[in-house]
Amino acid sequence: MNIAEVEKKALAEISKVKTPKNLDGFRIKYLGRKGEINNFLSEIPELPRQEDRKKAGILINEVKGRIEEALALRDKDLKNQSLKKVEKEPFDITEPGKTVPLGSIHPITKFREFVRDTFSQLGFEEVYAPHIEEDSYNFGLLNISPDHPSRDLWDTLYLENGDLLRTHTSNIQVREMEKRKPPIKVMSFDRCFRYESVDPHHDHTFTQFDLLYIDKKVSMVHLKFLSDLFLKKVFGERTKTRFRPKYYPFVEPGVGVDALCPFCEGKGCRICGREGWFEIAGAGLVHPQVIKNGGLDPDEYSGLAWGFGPDRILMIKLGIDDIRHFNKGDLRFLKQF
Ligand code: PHE
Repeated sequence: MNIAEVEKKALAEISKVKTPKNLDGFRIKYLGRKGEINNFLSEIPELPRQEDRKKAGILINEVKGRIEEALALRDKDLKNQSLKKVEKEPFDITEPGKTVPLGSIHPITKFREFVRDTFSQLGFEEVYAPHIEEDSYNFGLLNISPDHPSRDLWDTLYLENGDLLRTHTSNIQVREMEKRKPPIKVMSFDRCFRYESVDPHHDHTFTQFDLLYIDKKVSMVHLKFLSDLFLKKVFGERTKTRFRPKYYPFVEPGVGVDALCPFCEGKGCRICGREGWFEIAGAGLVHPQVIKNGGLDPDEYSGLAWGFGPDRILMIKLGIDDIRHFNKGDLRFLKQF
């Protein structure tokens, strides 16, 4: 193709381009470093006569100028066309934009912030322990040997290699004792798993909170104080705390912590199942053997452990009738909080 034919082809193509963006392709094709016009320019030195070289240079540059002009013109035309289109279909720039649906904070997450704030003000630090756990941290080191009948308290999901999905957040206890020096003040609010047949009160995935406090002379008085403070914060000043003896292999003595029903104040109502009290937490003084398992001297140190199920507390407080709502992701449920 000679230069005149290239020019003709270029001008024809450019006039058919539909968008300013597509024009760029043609700019490169004709005027780019390896474009058609440069090809002609690079052949000039091969012409034998000085006069012809001069003429060819002028000619090619004129063509280049006309293509540039055509590109600029087409660009302007296309932009004008799209402006006209906007003018023909006027829109109201003050109209509010499309609303993007916003999520809300999950009730468990909200409660976690509250619990974390409450206890961090008392000097407790939030810690984490593995969800996939060794038998020892979940059971063995907490005084629960493989054949211990109390294993029945925790229906457990085992992995093929003998590890398990932790059944409680109490697996922080020995892990943190191994890592720290007393005074130890830690808490964990996290997921746990059990081999449950699910119903409105049991789910295979749920939340637990554990508190561990180890120091010299930690006693039941501390436990009572912490329980009372927390239950009043959750259920209001008029609730009361009650301890009942309860067995957990890793505490001695062990207690069940009850809260006076804030709805009937002990008279017995539908919400507390006519009991007047809610069983809220399990707790006790850390068993001397567990303190030893954590590498500390039980003659020097004592400690308290305290754990509750946040799902259960929220169900009571917010009137939620099925624990499975928490993990369903049903917006009709979540939007209420
Ligand atoms: N980990 C116990 C459970 O899952 C609760 C508990 C925590 C009891 C701390 C005593 C002390 O039932």
